[in-house]
Amino acid sequence: MKKKTFKIGDAYITISIDPDGTWFIDDLFVPEDQRGKDVGRRLVRMVESYAKRKGATTIGIWAPEPSAFGFWRRVGYDEYGRKLL
Ligand SMILES: CC(C)(COP(=O)(O)OP(=O)(O)OC[C@H]1O[C@@H](n2cnc3c(N)ncnc32)[C@H](O)[C@@H]1OP(=O)(O)O)[C@@H](O)C(=O)NCCC(=O)NCCS
Repeated sequence: MKKKTFKIGDAYITISIDPDGTWFIDDLFVPEDQRGKDVGRRLVRMVESYAKRKGATTIGIWAPEPSAFGFWRRVGYDEYGRKLL
């Protein structure tokens, strides 16, 4: 499985690409003192443009934190199903 991390300062987002071509956001973390300043959204957009360039059409979120569901909706993600892998 291939992994890649993008950073803005100490904030980071990690993605993995399965051999079958499925893309997942594995981890996203913004330090508390930097939250609410669009850093999380910018990291998600960085991943999306990279994934688009690489031909991905769908990105899933690996084990999202229930407390972050509101964030994911704000940045354009919807729950349409769950996969147990
Ligand atoms: C969730 C997290 C990544 C958000 O990062 P952030 O940089 O504060 O988010 P942004 O400033 O880019 O917020 C984008 C939008 O989402 C909203 N938002 C942010 N966190 C939210 C939350 N927990 N619930 C609801 N809405 C949220 C913001 O208000 C903003 O809304 P707007 O479009 O009206 O401006 C950050 O709080 C974090 O690292 N939390 C701990 C780890 C975690 O839960 N990671 C997710 C793993 S699935």
